[in-house]
Amino acid sequence: MNDWIFYQIYPWSFCDSNGDGVGDLQGIRSKIPYLKELGVTAVWLSPCFQSPMVDNGYDISDYREIDGRVGTREELETLINELHQNGIKIILDFVANHTSDKHVWFKNARKSKDNPYRDYYIWRKTPPNDWQSVFGGSAWEYDEQTQEYYLHSYAVEQPDLNWENEAVRKEMKAIVSFWLDKGVDGFRCDVLDMISKDVEKGINQDGPKLHEYIRDLFDFDKEFFTVGECWSASAENVEKFCGKGRKELTTVFCFSHILMQNGRFTSKKPSLKRACEELAEWQMTTQNVGVTPTLFFENHDLARSVSRFGDEKHRFACATLLGGLVVLHRGIPFLYQGEEIGLTNNLLTDITQVNDVESARYYEENIPHTAKETLLRNINANGRDNARYMLPWTGEKVKSWQAEYHRREEINVEKDKASENSVFAFYKELIALRKREKALHSGSYRLKELNENGYVFERLYENEKITVVASFEKQAYFELPQNAKVLLDNYENLPKNQTPYRLLVLKG
Ligand code: GLC
Repeated sequence: MNDWIFYQIYPWSFCDSNGDGVGDLQGIRSKIPYLKELGVTAVWLSPCFQSPMVDNGYDISDYREIDGRVGTREELETLINELHQNGIKIILDFVANHTSDKHVWFKNARKSKDNPYRDYYIWRKTPPNDWQSVFGGSAWEYDEQTQEYYLHSYAVEQPDLNWENEAVRKEMKAIVSFWLDKGVDGFRCDVLDMISKDVEKGINQDGPKLHEYIRDLFDFDKEFFTVGECWSASAENVEKFCGKGRKELTTVFCFSHILMQNGRFTSKKPSLKRACEELAEWQMTTQNVGVTPTLFFENHDLARSVSRFGDEKHRFACATLLGGLVVLHRGIPFLYQGEEIGLTNNLLTDITQVNDVESARYYEENIPHTAKETLLRNINANGRDNARYMLPWTGEKVKSWQAEYHRREEINVEKDKASENSVFAFYKELIALRKREKALHSGSYRLKELNENGYVFERLYENEKITVVASFEKQAYFELPQNAKVLLDNYENLPKNQTPYRLLVLKG
């Protein structure tokens, strides 16, 4: 597990091979050399299954078919094989909590109360509680045809599956088996901690049968990788999800350092120091219980980390510092497409440019009483479209299903790779360093210092020691190990008279 370094691909926006404005599997195939050059060893592919795209692919209408806009199943099989031939593993996204309302199960379920598929979903005569959908509004939707309400924790078009029903559990396990047979190396499991609920008791997360369901779902003869998106993961329960001998998950995504507790839509910046405190805490917690954590600052749901935690004025320094925090801690790094060239948030100027269901819903709910400019500012600061615009391979204007990235001429793969201060080149070095140094890929973690100015931690393996020094907005002064060798410094080519967001990696 120590050699897994993930790169998340959001297929709809990664690389468009046929110029129709939508990323596709052939595009991904064409970029295998790019992934190899970067040095990542695994890919997490966000959903590319058949989907009406209400929630950008997380509303699936057929779990075994690939959406025609992105490719075909044969193309995915070819991609799996070619990644493997290049020494890169691949995990698929597994959306277990809900389907699309266009899935044949739901189409049948809503026909009549005695339809065999009725019980695949969660129906009540009246809403038994006031649960709110994550995207806003009641989580209970009235269905005219059968005059009952169904539960949708996300969009109205994403009805929650009823995992209490054994038939549902069997169907989902069969899907896991189907893709394992196609050669995938595992799964990223979407909001997995929501599959067990107790509606009557008001429990919609981390329910009473969660661990039993996870164990059964992944009980196969062969070993494979699983990472659960579990917003409820905490120091208290992480061992239950992925402790040795639990036979549940390889690891989980914990979000405490992302600092989203007070809702997504605020333009107030989270503090990098607070994020590091949470990271350090999670490093120590997981180490104490022998769990391997995930390491990330970005994914398809999050704003760009340079803009959110850093300062776009110091883009190179911030991008490389944040990269260092992802790659050099103890755990499994997950990079998100474009992070390796330091992409920033986009700048949308009108609501018609917003694609994401969550942002659109937020706008709709608040426009009666909040200024348009404020809403757009908040959407630009934290909305999910920031992660979903087309990856700019060059500065050229391209056709796209998403609003174009406003800085594409200035920040794109081609330009970054050619620059003296290339974020890509620095990530490449970080990854190579992690692979080379035992202390980094297999060593333990020790917190040295964390204060207003910065964060220092060590990675230790037998008698080897690597010290990582990360400074925040100001220049940080730390007592550094004497005679230590500098392995990496993101200020190598930057003026040393001002050094915010400096990353120093020292050995010895
Ligand atoms: C997860 C996904 C997100 C999606 C939601 C509902 O949080 O990462 O993109 O909207 O689940 O499937």
